[in-house]
Amino acid sequence: MTPSDWDRLTDQLPAWLESSRKESHKGRPASYIPELAHAQGDALGIVLLTGEGKEISAGDAGLTFTMQSISKVFTLMLALIDHGEEGVFRKVGMEPTGDDFNSMLKLELVEPGIPFNPLINAGAIAISSLIRGDRPAEKVERILSFFRLLTGDPNLAYNEAVYHSESATAHRNRSLAYFLKDNRVLEEADDVEEVLDVYFKHCSVDVNCRHLARMALVLALNGKDPDSGALLVPRRYVQIAKTFMLSCGMYNASGEFALQVGLPAKSGVAGGILTLVPGQCGIGVVGPALNDKGNSIAGVHLLRTLSETFDWSMF
Ligand code: DON
Repeated sequence: MTPSDWDRLTDQLPAWLESSRKESHKGRPASYIPELAHAQGDALGIVLLTGEGKEISAGDAGLTFTMQSISKVFTLMLALIDHGEEGVFRKVGMEPTGDDFNSMLKLELVEPGIPFNPLINAGAIAISSLIRGDRPAEKVERILSFFRLLTGDPNLAYNEAVYHSESATAHRNRSLAYFLKDNRVLEEADDVEEVLDVYFKHCSVDVNCRHLARMALVLALNGKDPDSGALLVPRRYVQIAKTFMLSCGMYNASGEFALQVGLPAKSGVAGGILTLVPGQCGIGVVGPALNDKGNSIAGVHLLRTLSETFDWSMF
């Protein structure tokens, strides 16, 4: 970003954010995980972090919320570190579905019965089964350590209330997981409830917009730690993660988001969006009111404004 772009951003971001906040009344916080329904619908916050160490925030940037599906990008990278491409792509495909994020439809309809991609719920549950560790607690600890490395926050933890709330009501995810067991995507040794437990816990990790922006900046820098320059994740695995973000990160609105914003992004049902401008900056957004595709309605609006203003589309 040029110095004059940065000045313009500093100047205008609060006004752009307030104008996007007005969109939130058109959506609602998720309620199928009961604990998420308490979120403030018109909250909206953003943090941008650049490779040169500049930072800007606006609105409700200090809000804490759970990562939900955003965590799937990073468990995918950890599974790639643990098993390589071959090991991962035996269990999940590489294609968008065009269906809802929790759909079962294609698992039965399309052979060979593996989830279409690692960012839909079925795919992310399969990925949870690949995280190395002797016991579920060890797998969760490895995931948390990896997330701590990427956020730079040693205190990152999962939210007990949201985890219990999801676990107690996750009938559809349970059916997906048992279906995966029947299809042998989950193997003999995989205990379905233990795999789900790992999945619910990584979805429930508490973050704020700065955490997301820091993780996004690592992706923007192709796996490098923004402070030390050390390579945290092999470049190829970052490339795979970003490609899935572009094709599947906003679920069945990924095509629309690619047209309107043109950046790799991942949303979560708590209202978070993690996105990045390649080589330049990492961005974390939160806006709990969701549209009918499960993406933050005001968050998408704000990212569209920024992308149009600064010509950020990759295309
Ligand atoms: O499994 C679920 O339904 C949630 N833990 C995550 C779903 C999610 O974030 C979808 N995002 N838009």
